[in-house]
Amino acid sequence: MSDPILVAEPGALTLGDYARLARERLDAPVWDYIEGGAGEERALAANTGAFDRVRLRPSVLTGAAEPLLATEILGRTWGAPFAVAPMGYQTVADPEGELATVRAAGETATPVVVSTFAGHTFEDLAAAAGAPLWLQLYCFRDRDLSRRLVERAERAGFEAVVLTCDAPRLGRRLRDTRNDFRLPPGVEPVNLGPAGPGGPGYARPAAHAAAEFDPSLDWDVVAWLRSVTRLPILLKGILTAEDAARAAAAGVDGVVVSNHGGRQLDAAPATLDALPEVVAAVDGACPVLLDGGVRRGSDVLAALALGASAVLVGRPVLHGLAVHGRAGVRRVLDLLTEELADAMALTGTASVTGVRPELVRAAREPR
Ligand code: FNR
Repeated sequence: MSDPILVAEPGALTLGDYARLARERLDAPVWDYIEGGAGEERALAANTGAFDRVRLRPSVLTGAAEPLLATEILGRTWGAPFAVAPMGYQTVADPEGELATVRAAGETATPVVVSTFAGHTFEDLAAAAGAPLWLQLYCFRDRDLSRRLVERAERAGFEAVVLTCDAPRLGRRLRDTRNDFRLPPGVEPVNLGPAGPGGPGYARPAAHAAAEFDPSLDWDVVAWLRSVTRLPILLKGILTAEDAARAAAAGVDGVVVSNHGGRQLDAAPATLDALPEVVAAVDGACPVLLDGGVRRGSDVLAALALGASAVLVGRPVLHGLAVHGRAGVRRVLDLLTEELADAMALTGTASVTGVRPELVRAAREPR
């Protein structure tokens, strides 16, 4: 039988194709909410621009016929060295939202980082999951609400907590301001509960964040988080050697090099450019993940060659979701997997652990 997705979207052969199709299908303000960055969107452009500049240096006649994509992260095996980045309010793209994402990801052993602002309960998502789920945590002024979120996720079987550190306030997302963007009716952060900051007065994500995010978070938050959970803790939003060293010294279990998909500090560096200094500063103390601008299998390989243990993929998953729900997400993940396998085979990379830095950096003069 022919693949229904290929029949429905015969021209969709890259993640970029899914982006174009999603743009056609979504209401313009929803597209802008998903796609937009902060300010003049320089950080957003920098992320993809950094990957566009990468050329991979192949190695030929290596016998790497069928590359092994399986990846060990925090004691678990991932199908490939990528997971789904946390993105709130996925029901804006498809009524099944996070449920569809988690199901599609489970089919490919792809972990999902579930946002504090998910549109489905942690318990429902855990029941639907076929691969590890991690909780992305925003720390609210109401610290007790954040604690309860962590406890619920842990009880539901989530396997790690990813604390987002780059949002003491929300970036100036001008597309949303110009569109006076409000979440459509029914799109709600259901895990915050009726008494939480998810009420109808919070349909504007920016107003919500301004009212509820704790703007005064400091490094003590790591000890607090340790006191409320036994789960591994990762810090998301690390972009410098200084912060990476501090995170490693604080004993975190991982860091995510991220500029929030260009949605926070517009002058932030491209994540791929920031990666080497973070990797050097962490010095093997914990895994270093990266997100921002990953749009092809070769981008994943480039990030690994620069020292990432794995990457997170954001917007392309929402594009797949908008185009074809669960099947669209599945297709996006499959395309990325196929492209990565191609890139590995064509560069002579037999396995994820065998990724060589020389793929992106010139080796010393050949002897
Ligand atoms: C995000 N991101 C995000 N990050 C986070 O820590 N918590 C969240 O709830 C969200 N929500 C969210 C919604 C949408 C629509 C987008 C596009 C992004 C940021 C996300 O986790 C990730 O850092 C970037 O999206 C990665 O960049 P790419 O892959 O989208 O370029």
